This record gives sequence, C-alpha cells and structure tokens, in this order.
Amino acid sequence: MQGKFITIEGTEGVGKTTNIEFIQHWLNRRGVEFVSTREPGGTPLAEQVRELLLTPREEKVGDSTELLLMFAGRAQHLDQVILPALDSGTSVLCDRFTDASYAYQGFGREMDCSLIAKLEQIVQGDLRPDLTLILDIPVEIGLKRASERSTPDRFEQEQIEFFDRVRQGYLKIAEENPERCAVIDASQSLEQVQISIEAVLENFYSQASAT
Ligand code: TMP
Repeated sequence: MQGKFITIEGTEGVGKTTNIEFIQHWLNRRGVEFVSTREPGGTPLAEQVRELLLTPREEKVGDSTELLLMFAGRAQHLDQVILPALDSGTSVLCDRFTDASYAYQGFGREMDCSLIAKLEQIVQGDLRPDLTLILDIPVEIGLKRASERSTPDRFEQEQIEFFDRVRQGYLKIAEENPERCAVIDASQSLEQVQISIEAVLENFYSQASAT
C-alpha cells in the first residue's frame, strides 16, 4: 500500500514548526510510520539549494532562477526521499511542497502559473499531496512573529504586499482543491489550532482506512 503524502503550508510566522511537532506526535500515537521532511531541502543536495535560495545577496535573483531552483531541489527530494518512502508504504509529512511554488512564485512574484504547472508535470507527473493543511493568519501578525524569531532570510525581506498576494494565493489553492486542502485559522489560540488540526487528521485517516 502507498504511504500518504501530507503537506503543511502557510505564510511566514503561521506556526508551522510547532504544529508540525504536534502532527508528528499525533502520527506516532496513531502508529503511522512516516518520515518528516521539508522544502526547499530534504536531502543534502537539496539543502544546499535551500541555502542558495534563502541567503540574502546583493545580486538580484531572477524569478525564473528562483522557480527553477525550487523545482531542482524538489526533483532531488522526490527521487531520494519522497517517492521511495511512499512506494514502501511509509507516509511523508512535508513542510511545504509545490503549493508554495504557486503561492510564492506564482502569486507572490506574479509569475505565470501555467509555467509552474508545466514544471510540476515534468518533475512530479501525477503525484499530488493526499492532504494539505494550510495554516492561515493575517500577514501582519505572521510577519511580526517571524521577525521576533531570527534575522530575516531572502524571502522574509519582502514587502507586506508580497505576503498578502502569497496568502491570497494559498486561499485560492484551497478553494480550487477542496478535496485535499484544509485551511486552519492559525490566529486562534494554539490549543484551538491543534484541536482543528486533530479534527482534520482524524477525518482524513478514518476515510483513508475505510477505502
Ligand atoms: P521555510 O521553510 O522556513 O518556511 O522557508 C522557506 C521559504 O521558501 C519560504 O519563504 C517560502 C519559500 N518557498 C518558495 O518560495 N517556493 C517554494 O516552492 C517553497 C517550497 C518555498
């Protein structure tokens, strides 16, 4: 049996890290065998690509360069980690995946989404996540949280309008893919957020075990 492919998405400062830990504990309690990974990154080579992408630099990084690097890392990550796990029946919990390319490069950078769809087809074929949790929060709150945490990376240095477009992009993706996407209101208390996440996971795994 194929493993399940679960992705977590959201703009900066939505609380992905804390909630991923919560999901890991939930999966462990449930006895689900899984690997936890992230994008960009997830293999030694793809982590080097991540460094290239996130490091602030004087040289302007072209939009196409950024998009192609995202998909280069993704191709390696799929080949080395994601596909072997899923094929062996292990689930994959991934901190960001291709929805981030639509949200950040497509909506944020205003690149042509049909170009992203072509790369998605080349790199992934028909593979799509089985479940995507989109943590949603007003951009100002998220950016404030993110700025308190560490020095901003190349993306975090963007203007608020960029993140507003990214957020709207995620909400549009959720609207267009209701069968796999669940939007979680991450401005609630952490306890409420985790109750919502748990409800989504319960529902997903009860449907998965019924099929
Ligand atoms: P994070 O993993 O620390 O959230 O940061 C990764 C950054 O990379 C984040 O700002 C979103 C961005 N990103 C894209 O722009 N496109 C992508 O396809 C992915 C996976 C991430």
